[in-house]
Amino acid sequence: MKFIPLVLAAGLVAACAPQAHTPAQVTGPSDIEVGRYLVKVGGCNDCHTPGFVSDGGKTPEDQWLVGNPVGFYGPWGVTYAANLRQTVQTLSENEWVGMLQTRAYGPPMPWPSTQALSDDNKRALYRYIRSLGPAGPPVPERLAPGEKPTTPYLDMTPVLPKGE
Ligand code: HEC
Repeated sequence: MKFIPLVLAAGLVAACAPQAHTPAQVTGPSDIEVGRYLVKVGGCNDCHTPGFVSDGGKTPEDQWLVGNPVGFYGPWGVTYAANLRQTVQTLSENEWVGMLQTRAYGPPMPWPSTQALSDDNKRALYRYIRSLGPAGPPVPERLAPGEKPTTPYLDMTPVLPKGE
């Protein structure tokens, strides 16, 4: 009977195919829960929420991700961790996914990490951040290398040990 091997082969393909095409990603009861989890483990608040590190992560959730007006000063100029509550208001979900997929540089933002998120997880982040609603002013414009900041900033310039 020729159809038996065929049926077996079809079964084998069906059993293997989903695993071969399913990306490693976080799943959960809802996109909102997944997004909240990714923000927590992804360390997004460390930079995008003022005071989060100094208060040991106790900043209330309704104050998360409003952006940080303290700059990061380095050879790249000065960057400010953006107000993500505003970013999601100005971008569609697809534009957000595109940004996380294509942006590669803007220290110390860990773009390679957000690029590595699955498409679904990028969307979950967007939906979660949008669910928080808009809050806070935009952060200052980034500055080119050599420009002097007029805001407080963290100096990330590499320094050689004394005597070198
Ligand atoms: C070590 C600090 C740091 C961490 C951690 C961090 N960011 Fe950022 N992020 C920045 C800085 C600085 C910028 C501005 C530079 C740039 O846009 O490249 C930025 C910019 C962004 C932007 C661009 C927003 C816009 O409107 O242009 C997005 C989106 C973003 N971050 C998402 C995230 C997410 C999501 C996480 C957590 C998974 C995260 N960031 C973690 C520092 C950080």
